[in-house]
Amino acid sequence: MELLKSSISKANIILEILDARLPLSSSNPYINKLCRNILKIKILNKNDIADPDITKQWLTYFNDNKDKAIAVTAKEKKDIKKLLGYCNKYIKKKRAQKIKLMVIGIPNTGKSTIINSIAGKKVAKTGNVPAITRHNQRMATKYMDIYDTPGILWPVLEPKLRADIIAASGAISNTAMDYNDTGAFVLDFLLKNYPDYIKKRYKFEALPEKKVHLIEKIGIMRGCLQKGGMVDITRTYEILVNELRRGKLGRVSFEKPDDYFESL
Ligand code: G4P
Repeated sequence: MELLKSSISKANIILEILDARLPLSSSNPYINKLCRNILKIKILNKNDIADPDITKQWLTYFNDNKDKAIAVTAKEKKDIKKLLGYCNKYIKKKRAQKIKLMVIGIPNTGKSTIINSIAGKKVAKTGNVPAITRHNQRMATKYMDIYDTPGILWPVLEPKLRADIIAASGAISNTAMDYNDTGAFVLDFLLKNYPDYIKKRYKFEALPEKKVHLIEKIGIMRGCLQKGGMVDITRTYEILVNELRRGKLGRVSFEKPDDYFESL
């Protein structure tokens, strides 16, 4: 936190990179205190795999609360242009002054992808492995200094729902989570909110009534069989979680602005 505080003081614009599928659970609870007098913009990244209706609700919610927020897909160049245009509207600086931009966010929200796109070259390591950036780093371009910070998970992994959402999103390294737990959460979540995605992805006419039968059927479809023909449930959950993380099941959001009020 101290490292973050001292770095923030160097910046004149902070980009808080959120995962558009979980803008609440991926946000930094201390951000407003830390960035009191600095321009701060919330970037809802991974827009391509988030539920578009829910992302709209989030943007309205943030704008209603006087937060500056924009949804982007960092993998798309045109969205990075849109992001820079949006930032430029608000940056107040003298002509010759360099922009000092700082990027913060929990692991795996796409910080490095955004930095590389802004810098126009690979300056930050990317990858679907959380916490790839371990120290603060500074990258200089002609017009801008970009400060990258390690993806930090805030101690808000309670209530359990938040921990489950964060694990499902990929922000926790695979070695620190249990695929059986996260997979069971994902399956329940999909059954409740996006049952048609399961039918479509796994080509089921109807869903079995019991969850255990459903996961077995998915396991058989994905060839997750152990010796003796038993379904390897852990492996099946792992595949399900990874398909969800990569947006293969469809565009999914884990939380809506209304959930925020319920969590207060
Ligand atoms: P981080 O620095 O915040 O930890 O995140 P990083 O940029 O390393 O991105 C983590 C993963 O998220 C990478 O996946 C990256 O490609 C992906 N990602 C970043 N932005 C977007 C986006 O807008 N949409 C989608 N769908 N994914 C995004 P990866 O599988 O490791 O990617 P790669 O190695 O194939 O690039």
